[in-house]
Amino acid sequence: GDNLLYLSKRFEVQMEGACEASLACTTCHIYVDHEFLDLLPEATETEEDLLDQAPFLKENSRLGCQII
Ligand code: FES
Repeated sequence: GDNLLYLSKRFEVQMEGACEASLACTTCHIYVDHEFLDLLPEATETEEDLLDQAPFLKENSRLGCQII
């Protein structure tokens, strides 16, 4: 819906200077509102591994570039 679209637009802004969604950084780390968390596809193992290195990891952390 509109809100996920909004999220992905936000991510494009945040992505500048980062790895361009190739899962090689954590600069696109975001917190997903809990009401949307269940609507997203599960994080891949690669995303989880990167998230483990992200500062301020929370249970609703995701890498923004992986949310489409
Ligand atoms: Fe690098 Fe998302 S932009 S992992």
